Amino acid sequence: MGELEQLAKLIESGKAKRILVLCGAGVSTGAGIPDFRSPGTGLYDNLQKYGLPYPEAIFEVNYYRKKPGAFVSLAHELWPGIKFQPTLTHRFLKLLSDKGLLLRIYSQNIDGLEFLAGIPDDKLVECHGHFRTASCIDCGNAANAEEVKETIVRDGKTPTCNYCGGNVKPDIVFFGEGLPDRFHRLLKQDIPKADLLLVMGTSLQVAPVSMIPNMVRCNRVLFNRDLVMKIRKGRDMFVPGNCDANIQKFLDILGWTIVPTTTPTDKTEEKEESTDNGDEENIEKLFAKIEINAVEKQGQKNSGTSSSSGKKDEGKEKEKVARK
Ligand code: OAD
Repeated sequence: MGELEQLAKLIESGKAKRILVLCGAGVSTGAGIPDFRSPGTGLYDNLQKYGLPYPEAIFEVNYYRKKPGAFVSLAHELWPGIKFQPTLTHRFLKLLSDKGLLLRIYSQNIDGLEFLAGIPDDKLVECHGHFRTASCIDCGNAANAEEVKETIVRDGKTPTCNYCGGNVKPDIVFFGEGLPDRFHRLLKQDIPKADLLLVMGTSLQVAPVSMIPNMVRCNRVLFNRDLVMKIRKGRDMFVPGNCDANIQKFLDILGWTIVPTTTPTDKTEEKEESTDNGDEENIEKLFAKIEINAVEKQGQKNSGTSSSSGKKDEGKEKEKVARK
């Protein structure tokens, strides 16, 4: 039996019914958005026109304070809901949610395509933020999101704060900024509950999100072009290649059909459930470790790691970019 048949069996038998998804830029390349680190085609190899001192500077607060033009141009290009539409993989994730099989999606993407695919708010954690709200990088005051969008998308200019005059940016998590509290809060609940982890289209180069595969105790399935994590025999699976193509095969095996995309309407209040399996203490310890690791790795962020990670020695500590 192939990987996809085995995976289908897990779902059909009811063994996988609280599925956690960790995804990255690779789930959106099918929509025409480049990923970050694929050599040649990735965004970080194609930023010469902005004259950045190093590629990651485009997502750094201090650089944005001094030279906001690069990020503003990129945001102008990538602004969600204008040029790009959800891929088959996004719509598959929506279907998982519709079928009641989705515990949560942790997406590192800022393209908003999960949201556009209609995945309910309470099922989605946009770990690195989104463009739907904005605030001042100096005084922190919230800015009018519509005005910020107009300034960037229509005028191609840098939005500034009505209170202090500082530069305003969409609430994308830049390097050195903390992830939303909601990420930490929900992950603590979800780790002990997950009975399957799907890792899709990510190089697992950016902490703390990259640590999720090592936190779960369930089976893990990697849908990716590159082998970016250790595959444990009998517990994990690797489905190599283009995720949209593989998801189509998977849908065929399951006999599932994709329904047309709808605008998100479900604003269900999150239920702040507590972990109920007695693992709370262990999860707290894991989180303590994550935060320490992330801070320790902060200094490595400009070290220029940009290669695709398929050739890495998985046994060694990976050099990763870290966010708080
Ligand atoms: P990367 O560009 O680092 O990794 C994308 C991964 O997806 C690579 O392993 C690719 O080989 C793979 N891939 C690309 N297209 C694919 C496809 N169609 N099917 C399957 N696999 C595919 O992107 P992320 O891991 O998402 O931060 O990067 C993490 C973070 O780094 C981003 O969130 C971003 C960046 O700094 C921001 O906040 C903007």
